[in-house]
Amino acid sequence: MQHILVTGGCGFMGSNFVRWVVREHPDVRVTVLDVLTYAGNPANLVGLPADRVTLVVGDICDAGLLGRLVPECDAVVNFAAETHVDRSIADPEPFLRANVEGVMRLLEACRAHDVRFHHVSTDEVYGDLALDDPSRLTEDSPYRPSSPYSSTKAAGDMLVRAWVHTYGVRATISNCSNNYGPYQHVEKFIPRQITNILCGERPKLYGDGRNVRDWIHVDDHSSAVWEILTRGRIGETYLIGADGERSNIDVLHAILEAMGRDADDFDWVRDRPGHDRRYAIDPTKLRRELGWRPQHTDFAAGLRETIAWYENHRDWWEPTKCATEEKYCQMVQEHTVMPRKN
Ligand code: NAD
Ligand code: TYD
Repeated sequence: MQHILVTGGCGFMGSNFVRWVVREHPDVRVTVLDVLTYAGNPANLVGLPADRVTLVVGDICDAGLLGRLVPECDAVVNFAAETHVDRSIADPEPFLRANVEGVMRLLEACRAHDVRFHHVSTDEVYGDLALDDPSRLTEDSPYRPSSPYSSTKAAGDMLVRAWVHTYGVRATISNCSNNYGPYQHVEKFIPRQITNILCGERPKLYGDGRNVRDWIHVDDHSSAVWEILTRGRIGETYLIGADGERSNIDVLHAILEAMGRDADDFDWVRDRPGHDRRYAIDPTKLRRELGWRPQHTDFAAGLRETIAWYENHRDWWEPTKCATEEKYCQMVQEHTVMPRKN
């Protein structure tokens, strides 16, 4: 790999991947293609060497643009997507365009020019598990998406599989659990609570707070994607996870404690409609086949570093904080602050 095209490289995980590649693989050049939605921020690439990283502002649905960019690269890694479940509930349409049509356009460009394709997807395509279910998700779990977001991601995955099977496109898919770390948009759970506290607002916890997410540091996601891109078997799906299952209330308590707040210094708010109960990844295939291991196994330490990053980068998140909270006010689940449960 000498030159890769990273779509969605101005978002949270895409920009962390670009930083990781620049740091770990000095011979690789990166072109970022990003349409700069509300979630895309060119500041996420600031400080990277101009001779190694080029930003092209454009849409993955633009077939003409892909026809020029894709043949110049050895591989395309697709991070571009609409990604927030609450937004998908409020307005599903943009999700169809980016997560379904966009994937089809990328596949068509990779097919036309015989370019390697890696598609970044989510564990949410498999739907949720019960809290008391001892099992975890594997590559053989049935697709059972439950939100507009996860159903469009599932559709994108199906397109990748079909293009591999029918046209022989050289593609792989990874489905990862919830990522955390620097540069994550303040609409998502962990940065929202950290920045609420930094703004003097109370954190917001949905429902009964017992929903479980399987957290992984974004740098571990980047290393896993690189292993799959360079050594994964064509046509295969790999689940990425780091044994990080935690309930939302436990994560919130960890944030409150690390930031010197009382354990009950937050608001319970009305639950998200159709809120998935639990995600949990069994990463055995990735570990056994490719020997991948996560490096950030101390969640409390990773959380402290993430809090410090938001404390030290107020200029990065403050400009979007008010608009994000206004958007939440318009969304159904936060019309009501619920009575205390703790
Ligand atoms: P993000 O919302 O932070 O960034 C998405 C980026 O894609 C933005 O920069 C945006 O401008 C860009 N984009 C959107 N539509 C585009 C289009 N049509 N053309 C070009 N660029 C476009 O998302 P993220 O959290 O970094 O997620 C990246 C990928 O990882 C997504 O596919 C998501 O489904 C997947 N994923 C995310 C998580 C997570 O915890 N965040 C977990 C598993 C999988
Ligand atoms: P989120 O970051 O939106 O990721 P996803 O829904 O894709 O897993 O939310 C993570 C969990 O946190 C999810 O169970 C919903 C919950 N949540 C809250 O309790 N409060 C919040 O303010 C947000 C944004 C999410």
